[in-house]
Amino acid sequence: MMGCITDFFTYGTTKSVVVKSWTIGIINRVVQLLILIYFIGWVFLHEKAYQVRDTAIESSVMTKVKGFGVYNNRLMDVADYVTPTQGSSVFCIITKLITTENQIQSWCPESETKYSCHSDEDCKRNAGKAAGNGVMTGRCVSFNSSLQTCEIKGWCPAEIDYIKTEPMMEVENFTIFIKNSIRFPLFNFTKGNFLPTITAAYIKKCNFDPVKNTYCPIFRVGDVVEFAHQNFIALAQKGGVIGIKIGWMCDLDKSEDSCNPTYSFTRLDAVSQKNTVSPGYNFRYAKYYKMENGTEYRTLLKAYAIRFDVLVNGNAGKFNMIPTLINMVAAFTSVGVGTVLCDIILLNFLKGAEQYKAKKFEEVSESQISSSVSSHSNGLSRNNSSQLSLKQEEKMSSDSGAFSIGQ
Ligand SMILES: *[C@@H]1O[C@H](CO)[C@@H](O)[C@H](O)[C@H]1NC(C)=O
Repeated sequence: MMGCITDFFTYGTTKSVVVKSWTIGIINRVVQLLILIYFIGWVFLHEKAYQVRDTAIESSVMTKVKGFGVYNNRLMDVADYVTPTQGSSVFCIITKLITTENQIQSWCPESETKYSCHSDEDCKRNAGKAAGNGVMTGRCVSFNSSLQTCEIKGWCPAEIDYIKTEPMMEVENFTIFIKNSIRFPLFNFTKGNFLPTITAAYIKKCNFDPVKNTYCPIFRVGDVVEFAHQNFIALAQKGGVIGIKIGWMCDLDKSEDSCNPTYSFTRLDAVSQKNTVSPGYNFRYAKYYKMENGTEYRTLLKAYAIRFDVLVNGNAGKFNMIPTLINMVAAFTSVGVGTVLCDIILLNFLKGAEQYKAKKFEEVSESQISSSVSSHSNGLSRNNSSQLSLKQEEKMSSDSGAFSIGQ
């Protein structure tokens, strides 16, 4: 019991044992050097730990598509093939349309072959349930001369969405113009993707190119699809989502001109490429009209589209005293980590490890101290190990003055 208490009320003070050994000396300095190189080279120079970073980038994106296409013998302009029309950061360019004209609220045969039937009996048990294009009535009617299908109530005639159509190939030559403005609120720094060097004449004829025209804000659709490693025809057939990423990595310690956007391109819906259940991207919309007698009718459009998502990300850094100090303290503290490794080697693997252990861990009690003070035995003693010398320095100051302990 008493032993436990005296063991608890102890104090461990650091004592330095200077080991004059080439082996451990070189290991120690090399480890310290590696730690210093890591901090200076990686943490400070590469990761710029002396900077405070703003990652909350604020951004606005405006887009505009240009080009004319021909589809179903109709000339298509921007209002026909771009949706939504506001020119936001997410927009679709329609490549393929399946049009069902003059639909009215009525009764008609279902168009899908999986609802085929021979008599009313086949449809009756499904009456009231949803079919592909409406709600089934329970009757079997003829769809065409060779096929009978269950009748539905809904927008009629039912859409036939399995007909094969070719995509509008001119989309490949359409251009997308992107205007992006960003702000780093922490530094109140604003910039746009129109660099001051860009002139009106240049913008009229340039097309983005990752080597020659890295800052041209006009992108050819075919190029974007290619940069995203996609096949244009396959993408136009099934539809898909392409990401245009604008990255702003800015070092505001340098001049403002070196804070420039970088563009990269990927396919965002990569999962639907391999997936056969729901490949690609399509959606439906309708245009509504009214006849003179007040009956409503509509044109239903099933659109296959390439959707473009313009994603902006970035961060900016600027010198600041607080991260500099914190990281410098971390660097200096970490240099001491080398001691742990050296201690392991020294106390376990080096010749004379037992002697080092004895030197390093020493117990001193108050009674020993007082006897040592009274006998004035002091001085440094040499270790009997010949190739190394151990110098032990222990200086303690107390009210009674400085003294040193011998072994
Ligand atoms: C795209 O433009 C090029 C050059 O102007 C032309 O040769 C090509 O036929 C066009 N492609 C389509 C699909 O219209």
